[in-house]
Amino acid sequence: MTNPRTSKLSGALNQLTDHLHWLREEGVATVAADSSLVRAVSRRAAVASGPAASGPGTSHPAAGPAAVKIAAGRPPPAASPVETPSATKPASPAEQEAAMALAAIAQRVAVCRLCPLGRTRSRTVPGQGHSRPEIMFVGEGPGEDEDRQGLAFVGRAGQLLSRQILRMGLTRAEVFIGNIVKCRPPGNRAPLPDEMAACLPYLREQIAILQPKVIVCLGGTAVKGLLGVATGITRLRGQWHSYAGVDVMPTYHPSYLLRGGGEDKARWWEVWDDLVAVLKKIGRAPPPK
Ligand code: SF4
Ligand code: URA
Repeated sequence: MTNPRTSKLSGALNQLTDHLHWLREEGVATVAADSSLVRAVSRRAAVASGPAASGPGTSHPAAGPAAVKIAAGRPPPAASPVETPSATKPASPAEQEAAMALAAIAQRVAVCRLCPLGRTRSRTVPGQGHSRPEIMFVGEGPGEDEDRQGLAFVGRAGQLLSRQILRMGLTRAEVFIGNIVKCRPPGNRAPLPDEMAACLPYLREQIAILQPKVIVCLGGTAVKGLLGVATGITRLRGQWHSYAGVDVMPTYHPSYLLRGGGEDKARWWEVWDDLVAVLKKIGRAPPPK
């Protein structure tokens, strides 16, 4: 009985719901939305999941922006990699505003077909984390795990990245983690130049909202996508670059370290040196070696 349009809509609806749950976990209580859109989504939700389901509710009947309360009830997505700081501070108005703007981008990404990757992805991966972080990490694009979960850096490379972030004295909830392309390239190939160019405006908008002090660019492909520089990562890493007025530190991609194995100690230490330079740049004391 399900037609392709309905299943596409319910897919997008699931993504939106997961995103809202994630925002709620991050301490965001309300998001701005056009109330006519909210009514449409609620109707679709009722159609897609039967009369018992409730979509994001709103008490604003008029068209125009509305604050939609993020409803409690459904458990958050399984195995969420987003670590919530133990002493959760309430989000400041600037952080809430940024979170809403990020959610709006995620909604556009969820239905994007600007490049061929939009046809082969399972879920879009807009990126996640703090809405006004000091540090933003940018990888190349989602892999298989990310494509399945709709979250950036949740596979093996993501686990290494988590350890690196913790080693810096931070948590994933305090930084933002995203990618150059928001949809998985088939078979884990590197994204093509046209795909990166098509997707870059989203990243540019995210950077403008996040206003990070530093962007850490993970691997040669991410550097090429962001800075348009084709020089090898071995030459670029450890040197400060700049993008849209933000300091950029290129370093090796965690997958590259994993491929080299634990034996390639020199590369691991080079990444650590780069991350220490990042900490110094934002005025944080690096932890002892
Ligand atoms: Fe759109 Fe980016 Fe996905 Fe391409 S990779 S379809 S540009 S969101
Ligand atoms: N590699 C990336 O570049 N990005 C991810 O999100 C995961 C693996």
